[in-house]
Amino acid sequence: MKVSEALEKRISVRAFTEQPVDEKTITGVFEKAARAPSGGNVQPWRIVVLTGDKLEAFRAKMEEILLNTSLPAEAPEYHAYPPKLKEPYRKARFEVGEEMYATLGIAREDKPARLEWLANNFRFFGAPAAAFCFIERIMGPPQWSDMGMFLQSAMLMFQEEGIDTCAQEFWARYPKTVSEFCDIDDEWMLFCGLAIGYRDENHPVNQLRTKRLDPKLWLSVL
Ligand SMILES: Cc1cc2nc3c(=O)[nH]c(=O)nc-3n(C[C@H](O)[C@H](O)[C@H](O)COP(=O)(O)O)c2cc1C
Repeated sequence: MKVSEALEKRISVRAFTEQPVDEKTITGVFEKAARAPSGGNVQPWRIVVLTGDKLEAFRAKMEEILLNTSLPAEAPEYHAYPPKLKEPYRKARFEVGEEMYATLGIAREDKPARLEWLANNFRFFGAPAAAFCFIERIMGPPQWSDMGMFLQSAMLMFQEEGIDTCAQEFWARYPKTVSEFCDIDDEWMLFCGLAIGYRDENHPVNQLRTKRLDPKLWLSVL
């Protein structure tokens, strides 16, 4: 598979088949993705993979949290977006949400249905495998960018294996639960989760082809 094909084929998949993904394939992909460059070659990432019974145990724990509405919310690891997202980012963010709910046939005013759909984040969208990505707290913006390059490398390598993914910053809302479950100490900060599996080709949510900003907004040649 050409890199351009992997780039085209990768989308955020939010509905998976039950077909399991071999654990060795997953760890192999992450090992290959570690060829991603990083400033000073520091390679600041840490990955924890969950499959089978471990993933089911984690899902059961999250289901409990989801149902127990009296539990206090955890302090989020970070804010996913700046508080006042300005244009053109605000519109892009709004549109992708609207397009996803339109694909699912969920109306804007149907708040319960939207919340119910959002809860699929708790379940890794039904994926048969998952991973959590951590970064050392002492690291700054350059290393966060290294982490991003590593993650995209992994997502493209998963495409080469015919495997789909969805990155989930959603998990940054539950850093305590995730870190405890993964037995990761507090020096490590949870960046995101990654749902891993085979896309359900028939599910409407996977028909979404997200737009991109007009390159004129961010690309120039002097
Ligand atoms: C770091 C990161 C975190 C993300 N977190 C979530 C998430 O929590 N839930 C979700 O449904 N999608 C999440 N996404 C998917 C984005 O919404 C998606 O990448 C974007 O809309 C572009 O669509 P595409 O991935 O299909 O090209 C995340 C993507 C990235 C890169």
